Amino acid sequence: MILFKHSLVLLFVLLIIGTSSCKSGGSVSDDADDRAAAMLARMTLDEKIGQMSQVFDGFFSDPEQFKQAIRDGRFGSMLNFFGTEKVNEAQRIAVEESRLGIPLLIGRDVIHGYRTIFPIPLGMAASWNPEAVKEAFRISAVEASSQGINWAFAPMIDITWDPRWGRIAEGCGEDPYLASTLAYAMVQGLQGDSLTDPASLAACAKHFAGYGFVEAGRDYNTTYISEPILRNVVLKPFKAAKDAGALTFMSGFTELNGVPTSANEFILKRILRDEWGFEGFVISDWASVPQLVDQGYAYDEKDAAAKGIIAGVDMEMATTTYFENIKSLLDEKKITMEQIDNAVRNVLRVKYKMGLFENPYVDPAAEKKILDPSFLEHARKVARQSTVMLKNENSTLPLSSEKIKSVAVIGPLADSPRDQMGTWSFDGLPENSVTPLKAIRELLGDTRVNFVPGLKYSRDKNKDQFSAALAAAGRSDATLLFIGEEWILSGEGQSRGNIDLPGAQSELLSALAATGKPLVVIVMAGRPLAIGDELNESDALLYAWHGGTMAGPALADLIFGKESPSGKLPVTFVKGEGQIPFYYYRNNTGRPASDDTWTPIDEIPVENPQSSLGYESYHLDYGYTPLLPFGYGLSYTTFTYGNLTLSDDAMSTTGSITVKAGVTNSGAWDADEIVQLYIRDRVGSITRPVKELKGYKRIHIKKGETAVVEFILRAEDLAFFNGTETLTEPGEFDIWIGPDSDTGLHAEFIIE
Ligand code: BGC
Repeated sequence: MILFKHSLVLLFVLLIIGTSSCKSGGSVSDDADDRAAAMLARMTLDEKIGQMSQVFDGFFSDPEQFKQAIRDGRFGSMLNFFGTEKVNEAQRIAVEESRLGIPLLIGRDVIHGYRTIFPIPLGMAASWNPEAVKEAFRISAVEASSQGINWAFAPMIDITWDPRWGRIAEGCGEDPYLASTLAYAMVQGLQGDSLTDPASLAACAKHFAGYGFVEAGRDYNTTYISEPILRNVVLKPFKAAKDAGALTFMSGFTELNGVPTSANEFILKRILRDEWGFEGFVISDWASVPQLVDQGYAYDEKDAAAKGIIAGVDMEMATTTYFENIKSLLDEKKITMEQIDNAVRNVLRVKYKMGLFENPYVDPAAEKKILDPSFLEHARKVARQSTVMLKNENSTLPLSSEKIKSVAVIGPLADSPRDQMGTWSFDGLPENSVTPLKAIRELLGDTRVNFVPGLKYSRDKNKDQFSAALAAAGRSDATLLFIGEEWILSGEGQSRGNIDLPGAQSELLSALAATGKPLVVIVMAGRPLAIGDELNESDALLYAWHGGTMAGPALADLIFGKESPSGKLPVTFVKGEGQIPFYYYRNNTGRPASDDTWTPIDEIPVENPQSSLGYESYHLDYGYTPLLPFGYGLSYTTFTYGNLTLSDDAMSTTGSITVKAGVTNSGAWDADEIVQLYIRDRVGSITRPVKELKGYKRIHIKKGETAVVEFILRAEDLAFFNGTETLTEPGEFDIWIGPDSDTGLHAEFIIE
């Protein structure tokens, strides 16, 4: 039997489901524990308090005072302090002039690159490429470590269902499985093959836990998360980060079910230490210990310090409640010396594991690697793979750079070097960004590019340039419209109530659509925007997030067909804010809606009697589907899925089955496809989601060829927390392999 009509070659790809644990930087496999204990025995209380304190650059206004503080062991870590000479001098004082010679941890938010900026993490998640993401984080570590930084406050792995939340940009989206695989890769990239390598940074999994569930997406807000959602969703990427060996964790600003995470024994002690066996240390978030007072969980800063220490926050970031209160708290027996010793031991253990006692210094020559051409090339690749094509009517894309006479390049994001770097890119320099305008001019030559921004920035409402933009479109063969959000509209503290395109951008788009010229829209934004109308009006649309330093060349590569778009959405796109939260792994409800049953608001007869319509789970105005499903993304080619086979239609609660499907590139382009495996546990001791991602694979398939993608699905990958225990339950399951969370080949199996 011929399985695949177009099959020229069969490729075999094996994917083991789940993030298996390997080296664990959090477990003591060397003498770090003994050395930390020996050091602890020699320390005064002041020196111990120092190791539990982190100060920021500029904390001491007098440089001499700063140096003396290092000599005195007043603090064990600094943040936002970097530069080869500065750090080497501070480390020299710590190691040579302080009584015990304990080196400093130098922390920094290296979130998606240091000088070479990669796409925002949500964009990187859209690449579904853990290997490429790992390499991006490796490059970030190489660059940052050359400046004396030895600790990154990354990865940020807060799952969220809320695109209003500005920090959605910083995480991996909505899915616990995708986020776990990427969290694992990010930690591995930052920490490298050896923790003692000078180019390795300590990773920091943050924010532990639940920050992404802030009510209404309003930053810093309250979260209420049931224990099943906490364990089955929120904590998954953190467990993966721990398994990858993350040396540190960061508690959060938010409260979790009434107990602030920076004083939350349930997550910091019971889960992180007792259940997971984490042996690194926990740092607070910036001022999150004194904020326990504002949160109504502590009477004053002294009380806050006690609660942070008791819960297991080992080091305080930026503020001084530990420094000021530990002694009197000990005198008053509100905390114990054992608690202090535990915290200090955790911090010292990390310093020993990283080899800082042996070599705290930076080699000044290391900075030559910054912006290495190979780093920029990788940034370009990741930006390409992060871009998701949401529409391509009549094969508008790719454009032919040979055939097209001229293009209009319009929009406030076409030439905005800072914006394309996105949020949390402290150390990226706009002058290093290659914008889409620059890249397209390089490709086509200046004379074939008619550039008019149309709007000065994304929120701009001034339409004075519209006529010039329309004129440019009129004299070009096609229009490339770069719109979205400025970088400052996402990230910490940048939540939005409306997630539409700001300013007059939609009006500009409509005006350009009316010219009748092919309209290619490129959205560069920090969140999934509600762009239903804009999608309708465009001929083609690429969702490019904030793509980083090399966003311009990457987009030019896709627009002009050097490579096919291949990213897939790491988050559900909603039609409007009223649908939030909308995530694909929702439960079915007792009244699931369908095309046959939902009644759009305008179709309800006037004075209709109450009982005759609907009564199912949907919105009268939005319906029951999102704008675009999780996992969605188009290609220049087409992929045909076939021949789904299971090695067995039953397995035991400890067994596994092998699942295979053929994916044929049935179009005209060599391209990558991201093959996704979903399951549904039909009946559970608590209700289970309609679909859950349990595996994926990015795979390159040449035109005409077929790849056989193979997954090993283990019963343990189907375990979930049911409110009492985590277990794999016997029962009936559905399985799909397909291109997104909405479609795919279907089969069934049972667990006996
Ligand atoms: C953020 C953290 C960050 C820290 C240090 C805080 O405001 O919440 O994610 O690591 O600042 O910059």
